[in-house]
Amino acid sequence: MSEHSLLTMTNINKSFNRVTVLKDVKLCVEQGEVHALLGENGAGKSTLMNILGGVLQPDEGSIYLNGKEVKMLNPRLAQSNGISFIHQELNVVADLAIYENMFLGVELRNKFGFLNVRDMCDKTTEIMTKLGVDIDPKEYVRNLDTSYKQLIEIAKALLHNSSIIIMDEPTSALAEHEVERLFDLMRKLKESGVSIIYISHKLKEIQAVCDSYTILRDGEMVGSGKVKEGSLETITKLMVGKSVSDKRLYQEHELGAKILEVKNLSSPGLFKQIDFTLHQGEILGFTGLAGDGRSELFESIFGFRKNYTGEIKVNNEVVKINHPKKALKAGIGLVPKDRKENAIIKDLSVIHNMSLSSMGHFEKKGFIHEKTEKDRFQHYKDQLNIKVHDPNVTIDKLSGGNQQKVVIAKWLEVNANVIIFDNPTQGIDVGAKTEIYEHIVQLAEQGKAIIILSSEAPEVLRICHNINVMYHGEIIARFKREDASEDEIMGYATGAKKEAEIIG
Ligand SMILES: Nc1ncnc2c1ncn2[C@@H]1O[C@H](COP(=O)(O)OP(=O)(O)OP(=O)(O)O)[C@@H](O)[C@H]1O
Ligand SMILES: [Mg+2]
Repeated sequence: MSEHSLLTMTNINKSFNRVTVLKDVKLCVEQGEVHALLGENGAGKSTLMNILGGVLQPDEGSIYLNGKEVKMLNPRLAQSNGISFIHQELNVVADLAIYENMFLGVELRNKFGFLNVRDMCDKTTEIMTKLGVDIDPKEYVRNLDTSYKQLIEIAKALLHNSSIIIMDEPTSALAEHEVERLFDLMRKLKESGVSIIYISHKLKEIQAVCDSYTILRDGEMVGSGKVKEGSLETITKLMVGKSVSDKRLYQEHELGAKILEVKNLSSPGLFKQIDFTLHQGEILGFTGLAGDGRSELFESIFGFRKNYTGEIKVNNEVVKINHPKKALKAGIGLVPKDRKENAIIKDLSVIHNMSLSSMGHFEKKGFIHEKTEKDRFQHYKDQLNIKVHDPNVTIDKLSGGNQQKVVIAKWLEVNANVIIFDNPTQGIDVGAKTEIYEHIVQLAEQGKAIIILSSEAPEVLRICHNINVMYHGEIIARFKREDASEDEIMGYATGAKKEAEIIG
């Protein structure tokens, strides 16, 4: 144990049902640094942080703060030891005001026992100002952007004078400019002596904001060091156990018949005059910043939203889609962006979550064909490297990224002719990302038509044949893949370039 470290965790061991998840793990964090905790999906990052945050107890091992051993018996105790945890799935309550969220469980009361709203609001404003945000403390959280929800969690950490803030994949739901704001904030916190443990699968972020790193692989610590001294390649190699290429996966092939045609689709305040065509075998990307309307556009095409005008043609026939059932019937599938809210059923087993909407495949005379279901699951488990010891456990026992892989597998299994993937690789590690993309490319080769929605230009550049950039609800530019570059796409996505380039 280093005597000078602010935090030292040593010999941490943890098993669930006799499956070892953490083995003799060691983690040292210095004061005033941003420390990256890295590793593949299921490597044990969230579990290790749950132990530090008092959510889980280790089977063995010790935690030292400034050289003194502490026991994090519950989250409250961890909090009083100066540790705040911003979870992978954000924890703010939408139906409460900002100040109520800030003081949840630690409400200020006056001497008569009544809530002291004014003081709570003042304190909230004080901290928000410190964070550089001008916001009404009485605003309801449900009216706010995701990045503000995160901000509330950070503000809460400051309210408790935390010395260590754990951020578990904080940027997976943030737009580009929100990420920048978070990074500025992290730098400010660092300057004031706060340490941050930062979990992310985005290596660029690690380079931009982290000072040092620790890497877990299959529950073991396999490396640590200073970010400046290690190259991203070595770090990736340690994480995944092999090198990962970021080559383009796009395959040139003849596109088939026109399968989906959208004409003049508009929805007040969300998107307007959307025109595009999609062919069999085509992978078409839609990218832009948050608020560009792409998710709302495809939620409308899939029938989640009804308030739109214009025309949708599938196989040259006009269809009226006002319910997801109609979309599925027309052969359109959608993998929604928000896993927790839209795509999984928490109390259902892993295997049933996968077979959920492709039941037809596994049903024989009304009975679910268990063997087929199992075989298909095994197939995806191997292909996408889904880490699960027993597919009959409920899906919430899986790590965040592995839950996402199950959602993707489910849709790869569905027999839709058009599949829309909204932000498919959220929370997926670099190695598995490539595998998911390879699957999508294969689907296209088999003649399926694919739409990818993503805020990351490099992602669409890797697999798409054609790319549409959206800005404020409109398609502002269309590229053939060979003409597109990251800079060019960003130029349009940010509104810096306005002339739409229509390709013939
Ligand atoms: N409550 C639980 N019961 C059983 N197994 C669990 C439980 N919580 C986590 N696990 C298992 O522990 C392993 C590590 O999970 P953890 O959530 O720590 O991974 P992670 O590194 O955070 O991954 P990701 O990047 O996907 O979020 C996984 O194999 C997971 O299935
Ligand atoms: Mg995790």
